[in-house]
Amino acid sequence: MSAQKIYKVLVVGTGKRGKHHALAFKNNPRFELTGLADSSPEQLAKAAVELGIHKTSLQPLALAKEIQPDVFCFCTPPGIRLELIQVGIASGAKLIAYEKPMALSMTEAIEIRKAVNAAGVKTVVSHQHRYGQHYQKVKEIVESGALGRIHTIHAHAAGWFLHLFTHLVEYMRWYNGYARAEWVMAQAAGRGKLSDNHPSPDYIGGFIQFANGVRGIIECGAGAPDVPEVDYWWRKNKIAVYGTEGFAEVLTGGGWRAVTGAQQGVISGAGCMNYDLEMPPYIEDMVRWLDDDKQVHPCNGESAYEGFEIAMGMLRSVVQGGQIKLPLAAGEPEIEALKKVMPEQPVLVSSDVHRKEYNV
Ligand SMILES: NC(=O)c1ccc[n+]([C@@H]2O[C@H](COP(=O)([O-])OP(=O)(O)OC[C@H]3O[C@@H](n4cnc5c(N)ncnc54)[C@H](O)[C@@H]3O)[C@@H](O)[C@H]2O)c1
Repeated sequence: MSAQKIYKVLVVGTGKRGKHHALAFKNNPRFELTGLADSSPEQLAKAAVELGIHKTSLQPLALAKEIQPDVFCFCTPPGIRLELIQVGIASGAKLIAYEKPMALSMTEAIEIRKAVNAAGVKTVVSHQHRYGQHYQKVKEIVESGALGRIHTIHAHAAGWFLHLFTHLVEYMRWYNGYARAEWVMAQAAGRGKLSDNHPSPDYIGGFIQFANGVRGIIECGAGAPDVPEVDYWWRKNKIAVYGTEGFAEVLTGGGWRAVTGAQQGVISGAGCMNYDLEMPPYIEDMVRWLDDDKQVHPCNGESAYEGFEIAMGMLRSVVQGGQIKLPLAAGEPEIEALKKVMPEQPVLVSSDVHRKEYNV
């Protein structure tokens, strides 16, 4: 048998998520973590020592051209996406792995999709919660048919839109068999987070009509329901799948529970979002896809694109009013359009735990 290929990796952005990625690549024998880049010299020096990597640079493009990585991974704030995708393509990488959200506007997402398709580069976007045992359990219950005909999926998060929405919509689409979204409609409130580096209305709530008849409901931010069972604020997320014979729901920080026709009462189990458990299989699925074109990564960029389109459709609905038909064409950057029309009224919160985060 021929020796298995070892894939060279360059990680750009060495903050919290960059280090999670770098460590997971380092711990997988099929990857060689070859270099690190960051625009902050202090951050880069710290990460280089922690990870034991000597090849570092403040210039991602120069280092990428030198290393010629198989995997170009970047974990920077969302303000810089298309530019780093172009650096990844220029480096000759076979796979670009990057963080959610995939872009800051529909036009940018369209440009990213065009560029990677033209270059024939695989992309993976970090929606790795799906590897949690509780997320997997809800998928197993839905797939078993125990809930009957699925008609509604309601997902919500305490965290604001451009942090959490693409996670929620990705798992909603997974539970719904990746049915196409036909239209969306939404409302939003609160300008507080429009100047954040994940610019968002403080609260957004909206509907999705899927082609298989399932209704999606997504809420993010200050007005979203609390998940009182979960203490850690960023994990106050829930995705509940309702069918004609029962429901099953996952709480990002608090396990899963279900009621099905075959069971008497509630069944439940453990599970909590945990980077140490989710990153290794997420990274391992990149090996499979690099080895074999048919083993497409579950967090592939095309899936992220469809979720992002739903997100941007909701913002367009807030701005224009009414239902927005998908797919979307390029247009005015959605957040900029939102800034022009959002009223000044402070957001109303759904529970006291949201007050501090939304400064109200
Ligand atoms: N998938 C998840 O579960 C998850 C969780 C948290 C954050 N995120 C996402 O990860 C991304 C990064 O978040 P984080 O928490 O790691 O942020 P962070 O601030 O800890 O790290 C970002 C790093 O990028 C560097 N950087 C900024 N601009 C750069 C540039 N132009 N070139 C090179 N380096 C640059 C910064 O110096 C910093 O070291 C965000 O998009 C965020 O939404 C994802």
